[in-house]
Amino acid sequence: MASEIKTVIEVCVGLHCSMKGAYVLLESIRKHYDLEIGIPSFDGMLLKEAECLHNCSNAVSILINGMEISNCSFNNIVKYIEAIHER
Ligand code: FES
Repeated sequence: MASEIKTVIEVCVGLHCSMKGAYVLLESIRKHYDLEIGIPSFDGMLLKEAECLHNCSNAVSILINGMEISNCSFNNIVKYIEAIHER
């Protein structure tokens, strides 16, 4: 049984973000943490697709626990997740 959700990662897959590589980023995060999209992991991580977050000029936009992080490298996103995710 999955534990409570502690970290929600939402990757915008709207048009602008998709054109800037949102699906590649989504898949990279998914693989890195061995997640299934929309299904919480046993350590409380949830990866979701999001509609346009209205920050298209800074694509790719993602939300991590509601904090918007835009135009950020995969490595920096992982560093941020590691800093906030409680295991
Ligand atoms: S399409 Fe991603 S913020 Fe608008």
